[in-house]
Amino acid sequence: MALRSDEWYAGNDRNAYIHRAWMRRGVPDSAFTGRPQIAIANTASDLTPCNSHLTEVAQSVKNGIYEAGGIPLELPVVSLGETNVRPTAMLWRNMAAMATEEMLRANPVDGVVLLGGCDKTIPSLLMAAASVDLPAVVVPGGPMLTGHFRNEALGCGTDVWRLSEEVRAGTLSQEAFTRSESCMIRSAGHCNTMGTASTMALVAEALGTIVPGLAGTPAPDARLAVGAHESGRLAVDLVAQDRRPSTFLTAANFHNAIVALAAIGGSTNAVVHLLAIAGRLGIDLTIDDFDRIGKDVPLLVNLQPAGTHLMDDLYRAGGFLAVMREVRDLLDPSALSVDGRPFVDHLDEAEVWDRDVISSREAPLQPAAGISVLRGSLAPGGAIVKPAAASPHLLRHRGQAVVFDSIEDFHARIDDPDLEIDENSVMILRGCGPKGYPGMPEVSNMPLPKKLLEQGVRDLVRICDGRMSGTAYGTVILHVTPEAAAGGPLALVQTGDWIDLDVPAGRLDLDIPAEELAARQPNRATVEGFAAPERGWEKIYVEHVLQADQGADLDFLVGSSGAAVHRESH
Ligand code: FES
Repeated sequence: MALRSDEWYAGNDRNAYIHRAWMRRGVPDSAFTGRPQIAIANTASDLTPCNSHLTEVAQSVKNGIYEAGGIPLELPVVSLGETNVRPTAMLWRNMAAMATEEMLRANPVDGVVLLGGCDKTIPSLLMAAASVDLPAVVVPGGPMLTGHFRNEALGCGTDVWRLSEEVRAGTLSQEAFTRSESCMIRSAGHCNTMGTASTMALVAEALGTIVPGLAGTPAPDARLAVGAHESGRLAVDLVAQDRRPSTFLTAANFHNAIVALAAIGGSTNAVVHLLAIAGRLGIDLTIDDFDRIGKDVPLLVNLQPAGTHLMDDLYRAGGFLAVMREVRDLLDPSALSVDGRPFVDHLDEAEVWDRDVISSREAPLQPAAGISVLRGSLAPGGAIVKPAAASPHLLRHRGQAVVFDSIEDFHARIDDPDLEIDENSVMILRGCGPKGYPGMPEVSNMPLPKKLLEQGVRDLVRICDGRMSGTAYGTVILHVTPEAAAGGPLALVQTGDWIDLDVPAGRLDLDIPAEELAARQPNRATVEGFAAPERGWEKIYVEHVLQADQGADLDFLVGSSGAAVHRESH
């Protein structure tokens, strides 16, 4: 079998000598002859606490690679800890993807196992693998076990929002809130709600990039180690079969990922990530595909933030494949999984053991739970909303805008007793798109004003050009395109303007005569207020980032360069 790594190691010339000699460190001659070199792209980092256990997982992957005759090579790659990284991990997703792609291409590797978990890590790894197009399989790090406070399960993220709102509403003491902090993170693993990390792991399995049945296995569960071992074995086989992402990932795989996203009630962040991954593969996926394919898919998984349970409950109840079996008829049977078999073939054995966690198709939690796309004079390029996390009475709403020009403006004024806002208002936050922030942060789920919380109001229509945490909930219109900083009409809205939202009709409109709108000057603070970065990654990012409807990838990273490197280093 001819291997890519032979270009480094084969032969007896000076360069092959150099490549082999420095890699020996005790390995035998056989390590360089005909044995697939498998990188383990590892996002373990002490500063990415959700992924800090991945070095243990990597050991199981290594064992599997050795067992199948390959050589494992751990490759630490850029890691993004969602709760730590400023101004937002999303600013660095494309950088992580680019760095991983380039390091895989630059090194003598034949295939790769991708270890991710926290929100941006699986997307960045998949974008990299798609662009370098080497045989690749994802091992998801798995969710953490459920923590409890006062005998109540705590959902990561979702309950932070809920409890902090309770403090602001005066129904929970500050002291109790502080004590709950040490109860939230119980074990290794990523957030245990149906947030972005859980969503991306399950959606990546539906996409066909994970050994079926592995996604959602809790991080401390011994079966994760078994799956990691199997994935290591599979990586060696992928090289032998030359099964690269471009050979089996098609529009059918993305169709299945969108069905899965709706059925699990997954995070809206999956939209930008799937669009970016598809862009790397040259697959023509648009936001309208999410509406078309996913809109009428029923919500079957009763997990926070849309429901009540958490990820280890889903695993106990039968797991992700049991959910997919319920919607088998909606899946595209032609889509192959990374093991070379149709994804749907893996559903035969799946069973549901707890109907309170995984609903039947006949009695879903919601009959139509996908992401809806909105268009109109306020979002000509589109915006999205997750009806499953919204208040039904607000899905059709007309209200007057209360505009905030930045998240700092929002924080400064939201609890001002003189702020004119009531339960019918529409909160607008702008300057939070890919260019404007920069990086499109998760700020769209603006907390409500204290005075409305005290009146018992728990949701308002909120509109923003940023993203929302996958663990958040509410009637939040996201990813408004074009963003204000790119000249979108969001920059023209003034407090007091009437906004019409009609989710069933797919409309989001600013009720201002076209002539008046044309005469308005864009809000300078929003359009020009952000200091254009002068150096470094932020400069590259702002100059090249695409809008949300194109996955917020960089324009020059769309597509693939393959794995070839044409020049030697010596
Ligand atoms: Fe890492 Fe939520 S903060 S998955």
